[in-house]
Amino acid sequence: MDYLKIRPATIDDIDMVIAINIECLPEHYPLNFWLEHLEKWDDIFYVAELNNEIVGYVLSRVEEGHSHFKSKHIKMGHIVSVAVRSRFRRKGIATYMIIALLETLKFAYSAEEAFLEVRTSNEPAIKLYEKLGFITIKKLSQYYLDGEDALLMAKAL
Ligand code: ACO
Ligand code: ZN
Repeated sequence: MDYLKIRPATIDDIDMVIAINIECLPEHYPLNFWLEHLEKWDDIFYVAELNNEIVGYVLSRVEEGHSHFKSKHIKMGHIVSVAVRSRFRRKGIATYMIIALLETLKFAYSAEEAFLEVRTSNEPAIKLYEKLGFITIKKLSQYYLDGEDALLMAKAL
C-alpha cells in the first residue's frame, strides 16, 4: 500500500526540493532563497513523501498587504512555488499539501488570505487552484521573464 506523508521541509530535503523545482518549473531560485524560507517559514514549506521518497513541495511566505477582497490591510500567505514530480501527479498530492498549508497559514499565522501567481497557460495548476477555492483577481501583464502573463489568484481563509 502507498504511504503518503505531508510534513515540513528540513535542511536535508533541500537538494531534492531544488531538483524537483528544476525538473518541474521554469522559475528557479538561488540556494539562499530556499534557505531563507527554511529559516523564516519552515512550517509553511512542506514536502510530500510517498513511500519515503520526496515527490513534491510547496513553498510559501507570509506578507502584509492590501486584501484582495476587502478594503483593509491584512496578513496573507503567498504561495511562491508548488510542484509534484510528473509521474506522481493526479493523485491529490498537491491538493493535500496546499490544504495543510492553508490551515497553518490561517491558524498559526492568522493570515486572512492566500494568494499566488500562475502562468495563464498553466491549465493544470489553474484547475487545481480553482478546485481549492481560489479565484482569479486579475491578470498581471508580462509577469514572467519570458513575457508570459500571470493570473493573480486569491482565496479568503
Ligand atoms: N489537467 C486538468 N486538471 C488538472 C490537472 C491536469 N493536468 N492536474 C491537476 N488538475 C486539477 C484537477 O481538477 C485535479 O483533480 P482530479 O485529479 O480529481 O481531476 C486537481 O487539480 C487536483 O490535482 P492534484 O492531483 O492535487 O495535483 P497534482 O499533485 O497532480 O499537482 C501541479 C498539480 C502541482 C500543478 C502539478 O501538475 C505540477 O507540478 N505541475 C508543474 C509545476 C507547476 O505548474 N506548478 C504550479 C506553478 S504556479 C505556482 O507555483 C504558484
Ligand atoms: Zn508569487
